Amino acid sequence: MKSVILFCLTAVVILITASCQSNLKGKAMVEKKLFGKLSDGSEINAYTLKNGNGMEIKIINYGATVVSLTAPDKNGKYADVVLGYDNLEGYVTDKSYLGAIVGRYGNRIGKGKFKLDGKEYNLSINDGENHLHGGTEGFNKKVWNVVKTEADETAGSASISLKYISKDGEEGYPGTVELTVNYTLTKDNELSINYSATTDKKTILNPTHHSYFNLSGDMTKTILDNELMIDANKVTPVVKGLITTGEFADVTNTPMDFRNAKKIGKEVDADYEQLKLAGGYDHNWVLNKHQEKIFKFASVYEPVSGRLMEVSTDQPGVQFYCGNFLDGSITGKNGVKYAKRTGLCLEAQLYPDSPNKPEWQSPVLEPGKVYSQTTIYKFSAK
Ligand code: GLA
Repeated sequence: MKSVILFCLTAVVILITASCQSNLKGKAMVEKKLFGKLSDGSEINAYTLKNGNGMEIKIINYGATVVSLTAPDKNGKYADVVLGYDNLEGYVTDKSYLGAIVGRYGNRIGKGKFKLDGKEYNLSINDGENHLHGGTEGFNKKVWNVVKTEADETAGSASISLKYISKDGEEGYPGTVELTVNYTLTKDNELSINYSATTDKKTILNPTHHSYFNLSGDMTKTILDNELMIDANKVTPVVKGLITTGEFADVTNTPMDFRNAKKIGKEVDADYEQLKLAGGYDHNWVLNKHQEKIFKFASVYEPVSGRLMEVSTDQPGVQFYCGNFLDGSITGKNGVKYAKRTGLCLEAQLYPDSPNKPEWQSPVLEPGKVYSQTTIYKFSAK
């Protein structure tokens, strides 16, 4: 009799434990934890978005930065697939924009100059003689205000909205811009990034997201065997300093042709002027479907883990950067030194130097208008 009771009790305990565990796994949530303190004492928090399937994305309110993102491999095993640092200090001293939102203007503006209504503006110069990714202290170095976190258990999604107010004159830009970035992790293992912004004076805006992905989850490996597809017939060629010429160049029969997926390493070191100028891929592709509201424009497949990332946007261009400037000098998560081409970025945006290319889609934002952008990174395995 005793042993029967004991058996029943054990069975009940096992059942309760199992149901608690499955509840835990199945629950979408946002968890907040202190990440670190800045030298002025202000606290930076980490917010972990969980969708209940096992995928987790951690975001800090410094630079609105994605510090980790787990994705499943073909055996259902989750691993962190973005480069980053173990602590806040790493992000404060970072010069590579790991995981951050960059702005006001992502990418380069030639000599940091542009005109609005005949008035010339001079932005801070931080990349040779040019302006890059918002200047000396861009949005990636700012403390953002967390306006909302939300978990929808029924939908299996979790989200965070962060806001940054960029003052009139910051880095040379006119107008006070209020930018809100919403990161949502969906039940379908998508990271959806939604931007919305307003200004009080005519200005320019072109923010983007700068995660470096390494789908192998092993950051000591390069991304050269990853198979990349970019749905683009043309690129925007550059001159020295990586400023666009204003032309569109056909990718046919060049190393820039990714219309059929190919290994990034296949031609990255080819004897091809555009690649030599940039030290590898670091160019903007003219996306074929950019007349559509939101469209898939790229995929990255890592053959060993089977991880697949598909990227969609409503933007006309994407900067594909294959981590040429990583040189082992930065120590990332788990003490790993990030060597050349151990991460790749797909930064959806307007064509670079658009403030000086009137024929291209304009980055101008006027008072009373709302800037918006949606870019989605979706993770699966095959
Ligand atoms: C972008 C640029 C690169 C480089 C990285 C950051 O992708 O296009 O040239 O500046 O950011 O290191």
